[in-house]
Amino acid sequence: MNLFRTKKLSDIIADSEKPEYQLKRSLNAFDLTTLGVGAIIGAGIFAMTGTAAAGSSSYAGAGPALVISFILTGIACGFAALCYAEIASMIPIAGSAYTYSYASLGELIAWIIGWDLILEYAVGNIAVAISWAGYFQELLSGFGIKIPWYLVTDYRTTLATPGLIEKAPHLLGVPIVFNLFAVLIVAVITWILVIGIKESARFNSIMVVIKIAILLFFIGIGAFFVKPENWTPFAPNGWKGIQTGAAIVFFAYIGFDAVSTAAEETKNPSKTLPIGMIASLLISTVLYIAVALVLTGLVPYTKLATAEPLSLALHIIHLDWAAGIVAFGAVIATTAVLLVFQLGQPRIFFSMSRDGLLPPSFSKVHPKYRTPHVTTILTGVFVAFFAAIANISEAAELTNIGTLFAFVLVCAGVLVLRVKEPDAKRGFRTPLVPFVPIMGILFCVYLMLGLPEITWFRFVIWLAIGLVIYFSYGRWHSKLRTEPAAQEGAAK
Ligand code: ALA
Repeated sequence: MNLFRTKKLSDIIADSEKPEYQLKRSLNAFDLTTLGVGAIIGAGIFAMTGTAAAGSSSYAGAGPALVISFILTGIACGFAALCYAEIASMIPIAGSAYTYSYASLGELIAWIIGWDLILEYAVGNIAVAISWAGYFQELLSGFGIKIPWYLVTDYRTTLATPGLIEKAPHLLGVPIVFNLFAVLIVAVITWILVIGIKESARFNSIMVVIKIAILLFFIGIGAFFVKPENWTPFAPNGWKGIQTGAAIVFFAYIGFDAVSTAAEETKNPSKTLPIGMIASLLISTVLYIAVALVLTGLVPYTKLATAEPLSLALHIIHLDWAAGIVAFGAVIATTAVLLVFQLGQPRIFFSMSRDGLLPPSFSKVHPKYRTPHVTTILTGVFVAFFAAIANISEAAELTNIGTLFAFVLVCAGVLVLRVKEPDAKRGFRTPLVPFVPIMGILFCVYLMLGLPEITWFRFVIWLAIGLVIYFSYGRWHSKLRTEPAAQEGAAK
């Protein structure tokens, strides 16, 4: 049995057209661009820019050169987006990088990438839900509402403070310490997504308008208070700091690729998917560069080591009202991110199940709402559980390494498919092949190398768990084994 068996392109498309797997096609290019911006602008820009500039106990930050980190990561994502766009236009199917690698790199790699994408979507949302909860709490406190500390923190942070855990209330001897708001927001989003995608797209558009407006507001107000002396020293930790900063703010860019998970709910996907991805990446990159410049110009970068750097910078220059508005924007922005990723993850599970690599119940479509409700609820439970107890930086770093790895495989996939399927119809062609895919691979690997060792360790463990599942379940239930005619090269 061949580990590198690939699925025929024609079968991938035909599978998605079977009536029992039909999702509702209602999204256009504008909806997809909004979906992209909805996924991109969130916890990364509102929460992680602070530590990326100032550094933390485990790494040195970029300082005012944060803007270079943003440009570097923007370029890496640009290369990756051009590759994603070609494959998405060629294989407009819900499974994103998973489906693409099934057709190009074989079943084992496809499984690895599908498994890896859980890091991007579900683990990413754990970090975003935690950030959402932090800003929401700040908003509530602005209105004078105080929440008990043990309902707005995580277990690990509590354990790190000696004597704190004993102060929490106990139920049957177990200390009650968890992130209540993170759980609640995930529950609400899950419910919205079970009900239907068009409704969620509309909800998303409103949030996208608000978040762009709030970033413009930050840039506009902040520009008047920038002190150029805050930009020196520009790169206090040299290239190492810029590289680490870039690897961390990569989180802020994740999401343009999530557009591809809505492929089966899109009208004319081979044209609209590339537009949605590239347009949303461009809009966000321009905003980020401006925010990074203003943020590091407002206050000395050393003061930014916090999870609410944009609000903090405004507080420091005594614009408390503006800080409140930005906090509100952060809550809205992260809600939109949660929505898109909670939408994407179930659709990846859905595709993997349709191929037999996960149990059949994962690809059930709700009879009334036409949504993949089983996987939507499963994802919700997973994300809510870990958001209740996990630490935001660790979740974000794991997300980054997993996503960068997926990007590397997608860039490689473009190269492989150009050789294997030179004549297949491509609604969009990556320019300057092989230069662009190779640069995509090099840039993403460079960013991966900027992440801490512990993140690499966790990443390897995660992949190992995935391999155990593949060799004990997926390999034996794969449709390519049970229905060998679906395999590339099989005699008809
Ligand atoms: N790019 C998304 C965010 O920053 C994941 O929240």
